[in-house]
Amino acid sequence: MSSAKPSNTAPGPDLAAILLGWYDRHARSLPWRVSPAERAHGVVADPYRVWLSEIMLQQTTVQAVKPYFAAFAKRWPGVTDLAAADTEDVMKAWAGLGYYSRARNLKRCADVVAKDHGGRFPGSEDGLRALPGIGPYTAAAIAAIAFDQPAAVVDGNIERVFTRLFEIETPLPSAKTEIRAAVARATPDLRPGDFAQALMDLGATICTPKRPACTLCPLSDLCQARCSGRQELFPVKPAKKEKPVRLGAAFVAERGDGAVLLVKRPDTGLLGGMTGVPTTNWTVRADGATGATSAPFAANWHGKGVITHVFTHFELRLEVFHAVVTLAPDHQGWWSSPDSLTGEALPTVMKKVLRAAFPALFRKGTP
Ligand code: ADE
Repeated sequence: MSSAKPSNTAPGPDLAAILLGWYDRHARSLPWRVSPAERAHGVVADPYRVWLSEIMLQQTTVQAVKPYFAAFAKRWPGVTDLAAADTEDVMKAWAGLGYYSRARNLKRCADVVAKDHGGRFPGSEDGLRALPGIGPYTAAAIAAIAFDQPAAVVDGNIERVFTRLFEIETPLPSAKTEIRAAVARATPDLRPGDFAQALMDLGATICTPKRPACTLCPLSDLCQARCSGRQELFPVKPAKKEKPVRLGAAFVAERGDGAVLLVKRPDTGLLGGMTGVPTTNWTVRADGATGATSAPFAANWHGKGVITHVFTHFELRLEVFHAVVTLAPDHQGWWSSPDSLTGEALPTVMKKVLRAAFPALFRKGTP
């Protein structure tokens, strides 16, 4: 019978075996983890600790999580202890990890497990998914790591590993379905939790976004991107959408002693309250007031070229004008001496403007 697997994502029979062998030798030692050696001696994972670590690790690094995990596990060693805790105490202990909705859901989840599940986490992906704060990734991770369910665990690291292994050319996020299917096919029935954690470790330490350490990778012989030398091209990112262009002008007024006129921008709007040189408004209209005629005061303005800066929602092109003024004009703001200019809290776009006027300023590697 022919296989339904697309040939380019069919795992070799030994992918899981090779990876688990590597994990047995190189697993990171993490406080919530049952090491391969402990496991061999019959130690089993504690679903509470696995859950707690996975919630903490959502959008936070392993390094940042370690002290918080230790403090929580010491103070509330089981899910019923956390359920009995005062919510405010939990929120305080969470302070610094960010995303407080996660802490609220953590407490809610502990309450539900204590009240509705007799203090035991459900062992299936679906059962876990129904709990507060547990999405598809977290449900799969807990099911695999704590309950040895062959769930397909896919986080950003694992996406990178799989798109490279099988040269998955579909850009993210469309590739997610394909990646998940490939992970599901590769996940073994034996030790699926260790398999998922091995992939996490591989992605974090070897199959890194830039300059992956392929010579150390246990899967390098199986890796299609490695074979074609295209590792860093995966995962394929979605094509960037063209951003609308806004135009404006920026005016660098220099006094005879080299000081430059700076202003604090209005509190509202983009770069609100930040420091810069005077500018016109930024407009999408090419016929707007964006030339030397819209300068804040009359001076001998000279064009110094156009700088470009890309903001989230548009690209800004500013024509930079420079003038040396003999009589300091009456204008709001302050004059910043050449010595203090590099110490001003200037947003990048303003550094680009000043560099256009004074090419030696704000070069890469200078403050
Ligand atoms: N990131 C998210 N979950 C993790 C885990 N269980 N081990 C290591 N890194 C992780």
